[in-house]
Amino acid sequence: MEFCILMKKKKPLFITIEGGEGSGKTTQSLFLKEYFEQKGYEVLLTREPGGTGLAETIRRILLTSNLNIVPLSELFLYEAARAQHIKEVVLPALRSGKAIICDRFTDSTVAYQCYGRKLDLNLINKLNLAASFGLTPTLTIYLDITPAKGLLNKAKGINKKSYGEIGDRFERESIQFHNNVREGYLSQAEKYPNRIKIVKTQKRPEHTQILMRKIVDMVL
Ligand SMILES: Nc1ncnc2c1ncn2[C@@H]1O[C@H](COP(=O)(O)OP(=O)(O)OP(=O)(O)O)[C@@H](O)[C@H]1O
Ligand SMILES: [Mg+2]
Repeated sequence: MEFCILMKKKKPLFITIEGGEGSGKTTQSLFLKEYFEQKGYEVLLTREPGGTGLAETIRRILLTSNLNIVPLSELFLYEAARAQHIKEVVLPALRSGKAIICDRFTDSTVAYQCYGRKLDLNLINKLNLAASFGLTPTLTIYLDITPAKGLLNKAKGINKKSYGEIGDRFERESIQFHNNVREGYLSQAEKYPNRIKIVKTQKRPEHTQILMRKIVDMVL
C-alpha cells in the first residue's frame, strides 16, 4: 500500500505595514517575519520605495537628496518605483508561494501624496492601481502613533542602533503635514475595514508585536 504524504501548501500572502514616521514599521516588519517563519512560511521582507536596483535608486532621490521635487514628480517617482518592485520582485515571489511583508505600499501614497501634498485622490488611486498591476494586499496593518511621538522615536534613534533611516525629506515637514498624513491613513482604514487593521503602537515594541500577531491569527 502506498502512502502519499501531502505537504500542506501555504497560501501566498501579501502583507503591508503602514504608518507615519517612526511608528515602528521596520522594527515590527522584522518581528513579523520571524513569526511567519515559525509558522513554516518562506518570507520575503521588502520595502517601498525599494526592493530593486531601480527602486532603491529612486528611494535615495526621494528620501535623502536635496533636490527640489514638486508633488506631482514625487508621486510619479513613487509609482515608478512601485511598478518596478511589483513586477520584478513581488509578483514572482507570490507565484513561488512566499509570504511577502512589505514596509509601506499604496496606502502610504494616499496618506502622503493626497492628504499630505494635496494631490487629487482619483489620480492617485488610478496610478496606484496601474503601478501595482491590480495587486491588493491580503492584509494591511496600520501602526497608529501621534506624529509627535513618532518623530521623537526617530530623533532618539539617531544615537542608537536603529533600523530606520535618519533625516529624510518627510521628517523635515511640519507637524501639520504629519497630522494630515495620519488623517489620511485613518480615513483609508475606515474605507477598507476588512483589509486595513489599526494597531495602536505601544510603549514597548514587543507589546505592539503581540497585538499584530493576534490580528494575523484572527484574519489569516
Ligand atoms: N514602541 C516604540 N517605542 C519607542 N521607540 C520605538 C518603538 N518602536 C520603534 N521604536 C524606535 O523608534 C525608531 C523608529 O522605528 P522604526 O525605524 O522601526 O520606525 P519606522 O516606522 O520604520 O520609521 P521610518 O519612518 O523611518 O521608516 C527606532 O529607533 C526604533 O528602535
Ligand atoms: Mg522604516
